[in-house]
Amino acid sequence: MGPKPDEATIKRAGFLRKQIHHHNYRYFVIDDPEISDAAYDRLMKELLEIEARFPELVTPDSPTARVGSAPLEKFDTISHSMAMLSLDKGFDPSDITAFDQRVRRALKNDDPVLYTVEPKVDGVAVELVYRDGILESGSTRGDGYTGELITANVRTISSVPLRLEETRDSVMPSLLEVRGEVFMETSDFQKLNNRRMEDELPLFANPRNASAGSLRQLDSKVTASRPLQMFVYGVGRVRGADLSGHCQALEFLKKLGFPVNPLVRCGIDAAGAIDFYHELDARRADLPYEIDGLVVKVDSYQLQQQLGTTSRSPRWAVAIKFAAVQEQTLVAGIIVQVGRTGALTPVAELDPVNIGGVTVSRATLHNEDEVAKKDVRIGDRVLVQRAGDVIPEIVKVIDSLRAGSEKPFEMPTSCPVCGAKAVRLEGEAVTRCINRNCPAQLKGNIRHFASKGAFDIDGLGKKLIDQLVDRQLVSSIADIFLLEASILEDLDRMGPKSARNLVEAIVQSRRISFSRFVYALGIRHVGEHGAKLLAARYETIEELAAAPRQELESIDGLGPVAALSIAEFFSRHENQEIIGTLKQLGVQVVSEKQSAAKTKNLPLEGKTVVLTGSLPSMTRNEAKEVIESAGGRVSGSVSSKTDYLVAGDSPGSKLDKARQLGVSVIDESQLRGLVPEVS
Ligand code: IVH
Repeated sequence: MGPKPDEATIKRAGFLRKQIHHHNYRYFVIDDPEISDAAYDRLMKELLEIEARFPELVTPDSPTARVGSAPLEKFDTISHSMAMLSLDKGFDPSDITAFDQRVRRALKNDDPVLYTVEPKVDGVAVELVYRDGILESGSTRGDGYTGELITANVRTISSVPLRLEETRDSVMPSLLEVRGEVFMETSDFQKLNNRRMEDELPLFANPRNASAGSLRQLDSKVTASRPLQMFVYGVGRVRGADLSGHCQALEFLKKLGFPVNPLVRCGIDAAGAIDFYHELDARRADLPYEIDGLVVKVDSYQLQQQLGTTSRSPRWAVAIKFAAVQEQTLVAGIIVQVGRTGALTPVAELDPVNIGGVTVSRATLHNEDEVAKKDVRIGDRVLVQRAGDVIPEIVKVIDSLRAGSEKPFEMPTSCPVCGAKAVRLEGEAVTRCINRNCPAQLKGNIRHFASKGAFDIDGLGKKLIDQLVDRQLVSSIADIFLLEASILEDLDRMGPKSARNLVEAIVQSRRISFSRFVYALGIRHVGEHGAKLLAARYETIEELAAAPRQELESIDGLGPVAALSIAEFFSRHENQEIIGTLKQLGVQVVSEKQSAAKTKNLPLEGKTVVLTGSLPSMTRNEAKEVIESAGGRVSGSVSSKTDYLVAGDSPGSKLDKARQLGVSVIDESQLRGLVPEVS
């Protein structure tokens, strides 16, 4: 047993927990933070430190649970006290009318029935149980009666309250079962997949699969690293609160601190629900998350009870699905592309088809196993879908339309670009061209080298790179810095002016930050994020090149696969040589670690300062210089973004404005005090 916490520490832990819960609510639920991220991090860090010293002070609702806890062997199961039913489905707005008629017939009601209508977010259904306001468990729907206990995982979701907000006008229920949908925003999903692509991990097919996969992790730290969110849409058992309808329940949940979808529409009739269907369908593409329809629910609990449920679904609700963004088309051929790492990717060439306003003529098939799994053959009719901005993909082959003459795909055993051997290593899904000098790999490497997150060379696009490699004008990435306008201007779609501009862009790009440089090298498994981690740790490329694998592995967030790949990359003579050549050709790598250390000493870094009136012993220009050399920025007018107003004699209206906005007003000597080493 370690030392016991004293009274003050126990109190402090309780205080910190309460504060953090409150700020979580402000930030994640009502999107109106009261404190800076840094101040929040300080509270969290202090609580984590106390809990590390005195584990007995960790409570089940501690906000530190957001970072995840020890991995499980397997999930326990839990039976839902009230079944988590499914929904009847309709596929057309006229199904809303039909549902309304069914409801009114069953209720023997001639008056309009009022509904609450909600977007049907495409995620995973989850139940949360709170006792006396504290999150006790979280579970999946499972078969509707028994689900898996995923409490540690749901605790990591920022918008799931671990403890409910006590407000004056809402009583704290002694028992509250809440149901809702855990989902991932489309852009977060894409970022996650991009990182997985960099790490050569299997991609998630869509945000729903990504959410489901993230929730079903035995190690909740993995879940914590995934950008999951939740909207709640209903209650199970409730003890200690009297609710008479669905809309009232949602309001109640909102007050307790639960995230409720702001698009929910309460108390509308069937015609209103149909209008809302069209409105949502039109807005669908602009929403940050995917919805596949809407859910229409009879609002009154009394009427819900009268209507009852079948064994599968309630009679008081219906899901109306939007027309799927899926279309049928023909696989005209399957080609094989070779990427920068030599990976051979089968791509289906499709008869062009319009899917939700976009013409799709290709769909990636990822790898050999994926083609086999879907059994896609040349000549097949297939269903293709586009989810948000995600790459189009083949959902399935339409078997009933198969004629028998379709040709199965075979992965080539040699590279379709250079003819070298293509091999698939054991345990890997990818087949790779083994020739490091394969023109396809070189093209891919140059494209990567010139891309936005790397050297960001404007004007060096795909078509131009293809010509440069095909005409053997470049045979390594370093050759880019030897290009001359006189050579470039003879290429297709180039002229003297664009050639000059490109050479200028190449020259300009030579000064580059360390992280961009590392990313540009195209080391496998090192994406922009990984490169930033390395730049925070090492100052020079030599230092990084000399870093032992074990040391790289210890960098938080990097992982053993990337560490091995980095060590391998620098162990190869030709890579060292290219780095040397790049430097000889004028590439200047600026260390972020050094500049971060420097800026740390700048007392006005990131601050905006406004001057007014005449200062006793400095001219305006001198004051400006002092501020700028201390890292600050001088602005002409006062706004809420101003950090300081330096006021001298006879200040103007800026002083009044600063006071109104609560901006700190200082004089010359206070300015000098702020920047001692500069002034
Ligand atoms: S109500 C008894 N409301 O749709 C009613 N479900 O097929 C149960 N879903 O498993 C569900 N958004 O995962 C309801 N606003 C919403 C929803 C919603 C998405 C999902 C949920 C459920 C499935 C029903």
